Amino acid sequence: MEADQPPTTQPTDSSGGQSVVVRLMTIDDIPAIYHLGERLFTARNAPNAHRTWDEYEVVGFFQTDCEFCFVAEDENETVVGFALGTVIEKHHSWNYGYLIWLGVRPDYQKTGIAQRLFRQLKPAMIDAGARIIMVDTDAENGASLRFFRKMGFNNSRQHVYLTMNVDEDRRRLEGRRKERIIRYTVDDHEGDRGDHG
Ligand SMILES: CC(C)(COP(=O)(O)OP(=O)(O)OC[C@H]1O[C@@H](n2cnc3c(N)ncnc32)[C@H](O)[C@@H]1OP(=O)(O)O)[C@@H](O)C(=O)NCCC(=O)NCCS
Repeated sequence: MEADQPPTTQPTDSSGGQSVVVRLMTIDDIPAIYHLGERLFTARNAPNAHRTWDEYEVVGFFQTDCEFCFVAEDENETVVGFALGTVIEKHHSWNYGYLIWLGVRPDYQKTGIAQRLFRQLKPAMIDAGARIIMVDTDAENGASLRFFRKMGFNNSRQHVYLTMNVDEDRRRLEGRRKERIIRYTVDDHEGDRGDHG
């Protein structure tokens, strides 16, 4: 391959009767990935992950990890799947690949698209020095668990997410901040009168 050629994309093949191409993400894919993720990572399907999915997440991956971000697009050049990952470089130990977001449009699921995305991502991570690839998913997400196992992931560990609702604290702090502003404003006015009166 010539040095200035773009990285190879996987050759077109057929998924669900449509030709789907897997290629590296470009800047133009950002809105489509974000909107597809909005459909997939809902509070119901992804109780924790949906909280961190937003447009800045996609932009961030594009800025810092675009060599580990792939999309699948159909014949109409519509994004129907994506995989966003990163490689964590550790100075004194192994590098880790981390596949963070993976999604396929529901009407294209079970046609091998996620598998093709992962087949592009894995060698990109290995090239970047990864010796272990990590993924995480909700314990109730049977489709993704079966998918990851089929891809060869094993050695699963339980991980517990805890949340704390701090909305009441936020309201209290906001109230105190407003009180302080009012107090300072009143003090300033009184100070002004003292100076001039
Ligand atoms: C998980 C997900 C990405 C799989 O994408 P996909 O393109 O449908 O997966 P593939 O067609 O490549 O499936 C490959 C293998 O994974 C397993 N698999 C995938 N989806 C499955 C499902 N719904 N039920 C059972 N097994 C499934 C199967 O073993 C399948 O091989 P097979 O078709 O030969 O049986 C997709 O279901 C999805 O987008 N889910 C919502 C988002 C999400 O949960 N992402 C993962 C966490 S970030």
